[in-house]
Amino acid sequence: MNDTFLRACRGEKPVWTPVWIMRQAGRYLPQYQAIRKGISFLEMCRTPELCVEVTLQPVEYLGVDAAIVFSDILILLEQMGVPLEFHDNRGPVFADTIRDTKAVDRLRIPDPAETMGFVMETIRLLRRELKVPLIGFAGAPFTCATYLIEGGSSKSFWATKKLLFTRPGVYTALLEKITRATILYLKEQIRAGAQAVQLFDSWAGVLGPVDFREQALPWVKQVVAAIKSDDFPEGAEIPVIYFANNGATLLELSASSGADVIGIDWRISLDEAIRRIGDCAIQGNLDPCALLLPEKRLRPRIAGLLKAAKEAKGHIFNLGHGINQFTPPEQARLMVECVHELSRR
Ligand code: CP3
Repeated sequence: MNDTFLRACRGEKPVWTPVWIMRQAGRYLPQYQAIRKGISFLEMCRTPELCVEVTLQPVEYLGVDAAIVFSDILILLEQMGVPLEFHDNRGPVFADTIRDTKAVDRLRIPDPAETMGFVMETIRLLRRELKVPLIGFAGAPFTCATYLIEGGSSKSFWATKKLLFTRPGVYTALLEKITRATILYLKEQIRAGAQAVQLFDSWAGVLGPVDFREQALPWVKQVVAAIKSDDFPEGAEIPVIYFANNGATLLELSASSGADVIGIDWRISLDEAIRRIGDCAIQGNLDPCALLLPEKRLRPRIAGLLKAAKEAKGHIFNLGHGINQFTPPEQARLMVECVHELSRR
């Protein structure tokens, strides 16, 4: 069992720096495309055998030190009662937008074992196969809320901010419901065998520090606290990773979430981020596009990050956001090799 990832999460310095890649199972891999060709993305997410197969693909091909269960942050929201479709060009589209009290009241808090048994089954099956730790995940409440309020992806987040600033009662009721559903969902993933969990706050960076502190962070704190609460002994050993994309101005606040590990994007230097997150371990932060560098320039980049991370309480190497679908897979593999080779102690 390769437990370098879990050790680094706990602030230890394992024999090499563990590395995994956000969105490591996905379209940049021809092995993934081959399976995806015959089936829609959502159908795939609901089929444990296929989820297992694509989760394992990057573990086998790249040699990463952790696996992340193949699913999507939007699956939970669909189960809360809003039909979801993925369009090849427009991305995710929800059949409804949640912008008033009635719509919030109609949302369900699903029993995850019952409604998302396919995710739990994927986790159970994976734990039999894997020799590296398995990461479960969910969207952070604010990011989930943006999808429900906007009805899909957005550029300006106008509807989200309009609700937040003009109808705070509705906004709070929505976030409260998403948070309760997220807690149940993550606890069930942990019961099924997830050995760490990551909260993806992909859109946290659209908020200024004051609104982040008041309108996004408290819900993250609730999720982390619930996993680490005395009433849930399974959670005691489970590292929580909090990743706020575009969050360089929010780092101190993020570090106050209670998470063990703070994920950081590439827009800030690792040294500065380490100074600002205090006692947490750190995950990141190569620019996903830097994977296009030729080897003789990629290596020193990676070496530079590893050197900066010597000051960290624990370091998990990763990209600063998800891998781009047009990345040559052999470049991702080269990155993993370089991290292992250059960090070996
Ligand atoms: O390997 C892994 O990381 C595990 C699987 C995973 C997916 N999505 C699979 C996926 C994870 C952890 C996610 C998280 C996710 N999903 C986030 C947070 C991370 C981030 O990127 O900020 C968000 C915002 C989503 C929502 C989502 N899912 C969008 C907006 C889209 C469409 C655009 C896009 O990036 O593809 C998806 C689709 C999606 N999720 C794909 C995959 C492999 C592509 C589906 C396909 O095959 O067409």
